[in-house]
Amino acid sequence: SWTMAGFREMEIARIRAQVGSGRVICGLSGGVDSSVAAVLIHEAIGEQLTCIFVDHGMLRAGEAEDVIKTFRGQFNIQLIHRDASDLFLTALDGVTDPEIKRKTIGRLFVEVFEEEATKLGGAQFLAQGTLYPDVIESVSFTGGPSVTIKSHHNVGGLPERMNMQLVEPLRELFKDEVRDLGRELGIPEVIVGRHPFPGPGLAIRIPGNITREKLDLLRKVDTVFLEEIRAAGLYDAIWQAFAVLLPVRTVGVMGDGRTYDQACALRAVTSTDGMTADVYPFDMSFLTKVAGRIVNEVRGINRVTYDITSKPPGTIEWE
Ligand code: XMP
Repeated sequence: SWTMAGFREMEIARIRAQVGSGRVICGLSGGVDSSVAAVLIHEAIGEQLTCIFVDHGMLRAGEAEDVIKTFRGQFNIQLIHRDASDLFLTALDGVTDPEIKRKTIGRLFVEVFEEEATKLGGAQFLAQGTLYPDVIESVSFTGGPSVTIKSHHNVGGLPERMNMQLVEPLRELFKDEVRDLGRELGIPEVIVGRHPFPGPGLAIRIPGNITREKLDLLRKVDTVFLEEIRAAGLYDAIWQAFAVLLPVRTVGVMGDGRTYDQACALRAVTSTDGMTADVYPFDMSFLTKVAGRIVNEVRGINRVTYDITSKPPGTIEWE
């Protein structure tokens, strides 16, 4: 019968057979998928693997640190951390169109990744944490014209350009199975249990122009929301929860003064694969508590809304 321990052994054998004595590079994003792929491949081929973490400066508070600590400290995996936030933010300056944001980030990601890979002297193999839903979502079922809802961020084009073969040990798994495999491999719960996070990061949670100030503001709101979700024991019941910084200022009242500050939206959904999603039905008392904390603790935010749109017709991310 099928077990995760059996899958692990089988994949390790498969990776060794595919790679031989070749070199593998793997893009780490801080998410569950690339983390599990990297640890599994490391278990199979050890030092033949080097991970490249292109930090675009649009991650959540503390995430980059968690990844570096786990990979270097716990697993002893060779990891290059490239802080490219200036490059990304400069290129995004003035960009407001969601698809242009995604394409700009995707293009720079590939460029920086390629630069780091070249510095390493290249590799025959590129590892990716592609999951089963990623494989099928990129295929048109109808045979008719397929519509791109959002251009997904990956290292597209790189394997051909650099003449690399793909290593994708998770391509038969769903998200919950990847998490089980991660636990089986001893990856800490903060990474294995982490909600999915999009490649373009906080950029697609800031409609309009992106600035460092807005990123900092969003990180603060997001941190409060997630702290309360964890404290209420709700984190694992939710597929994704995050804040969106709205490009609008509204009037409020604080003490006996008028405020004119930014609004934010909170979003939390349940899902099994991200392809459809339902709104998470928080108690109103939970939401008002979170809103109270945000408005009191995050200077610059004076209004909090909750997004009650399911997918479809909404998407999970706002851009
Ligand atoms: P949407 O917004 O399309 O998101 O309903 C579905 C799931 O995909 C994630 N997402 C991405 N993941 N690169 C990724 O790796 C991306 O460019 C990207 N865009 C959206 C989103 O967070 C949700 O889990």
